[in-house]
Amino acid sequence: APSRQFFVGGNFKMNGTIDSIKSIISHLNDAKFDSNTEVVIAPPALYLLLAREHLRQGIEVAAQNVFDKPNGAFTGEISVAQLKDSNITWTLLGHSERRVILQESDQFVADKTKAALDGGVGVILCCGETLDQREANKTIDVVQAQLKAVADKVTDWSKIVVAYEPVWAIGTGKVASTEQAQEVHAAIRKFLKSAVSEEAAERTRIIYGGSVSEKNCRELAKAGDIDGFLVGGASLKPAFVEIINAKQ
Ligand code: G3P
Repeated sequence: APSRQFFVGGNFKMNGTIDSIKSIISHLNDAKFDSNTEVVIAPPALYLLLAREHLRQGIEVAAQNVFDKPNGAFTGEISVAQLKDSNITWTLLGHSERRVILQESDQFVADKTKAALDGGVGVILCCGETLDQREANKTIDVVQAQLKAVADKVTDWSKIVVAYEPVWAIGTGKVASTEQAQEVHAAIRKFLKSAVSEEAAERTRIIYGGSVSEKNCRELAKAGDIDGFLVGGASLKPAFVEIINAKQ
């Protein structure tokens, strides 16, 4: 099996100020990372350029969202080309907070994923079920439908990182067990094999998000199909560095 580079993202969500983001960045700049781990932080759009300017080389910056149209009359939106122009090399897409609160459909997320990839921006593609869906045994169906919308439009998955984030685990302190996460990650890999290609299944990083902390990250990182993390709350704290180094 090909070794997949460990990938850890920090999703700041709608948190932070100029001062607090600068201080997180200087902590990251000074930290010692496993050189084999890819690290990306996603501050609010307003602070993307600030983050890029202050972060050292080797740590990348992601937007939390991007629009699928190239330019024009789309008040409040940011284009892929504008991210590129600002040296922002990744974007999150399909986070459950946007799917639920801002009612983004699987189709819309897929269109934006295609636009980002076509424009040369990597995508951290989020998927995951709600508690109701899990309890109705719909977890795999839901996640597959979210990913299928993308697989129908995109054949090259080399610049996609899939983030499995069970909605019930986000910001709740209720982390998925290693077995629960591994089961879904393995199902996602199987899906990629049938819907995209064997190569995509082997190479695509599938990372876990939902109440990841410095306490639970090492255990989760042992699972064969967990290739990293997408961290919310804990990415705003010094302990983020311990999560980045979960594999050590
Ligand atoms: O995108 C990461 C996120 O949704 C997980 O948030 O705060 O549970 O780590 P949190």
